[in-house]
Amino acid sequence: MTVHIGAEPGDIAQTVLLPGDPYRAKWAAETFLKDARLVNEVRGMLGFTGTYKGNAVTIQGSGMGMPSLSIYVNELIKDFDVNTLIRIGSCGGMQEKVKIRDVIVAMTSTTLSTPSSGILKELNFAPSADWSLLRAAVDAAEAKGITPHVGGIYSSDVFYDERPDLNEQMVRHGILGVEMEAAELYTLAARYGKRALAVLTVSDHLITGEALPSGDRERSFGDMVEIALAAAFP
Ligand code: HPA
Repeated sequence: MTVHIGAEPGDIAQTVLLPGDPYRAKWAAETFLKDARLVNEVRGMLGFTGTYKGNAVTIQGSGMGMPSLSIYVNELIKDFDVNTLIRIGSCGGMQEKVKIRDVIVAMTSTTLSTPSSGILKELNFAPSADWSLLRAAVDAAEAKGITPHVGGIYSSDVFYDERPDLNEQMVRHGILGVEMEAAELYTLAARYGKRALAVLTVSDHLITGEALPSGDRERSFGDMVEIALAAAFP
């Protein structure tokens, strides 16, 4: 048991998928895992453990934003010995070629700051994905007939952003999409020698203003969960 994860050590698998939304963790576990059981409900941040093709997997909500994700990822790594962490979540598209429902596999993430900035100080650390996971995710997507966008994303601290000039610079520098968690996940994985990746579904678009209708979300998010599971166990 940790402060925020009310599970025994054996309850959490070494491979963890991290959606921001705890109810998406429930849906993904019930839809894609065998024998999924609830292992955490502290603060309503649901976590489930089950199996995928015979391999143990936990799907744990991370909450929104890097400070929240950092709490769960620190505890998963330090107290539950988790080795592979894959964020599954939504993002806002930032390039014309990136369409609603497309899948993005994040190679790296740009930020203004992360919870780790306090120790990195003046360093502009470049948080990057684990290469073996990234390659496996691209292979898994292509095997499903999906061509993912692979490249840099932006992990922002604000959803209601009042700095359009920053988004403009991200667009100009080829950033594919904006979300709020991946950079800290990659930074923590780097610090502790673990494997991390973010697989994202484009749910809205900063340039076109489009948004995925809520009824369409499940199917698009399902592709992302299957890609993440197949990347963890190629
Ligand atoms: N901004 C930040 N995070 C997001 C967005 C967005 O537009 N869409 C989905 N996650």
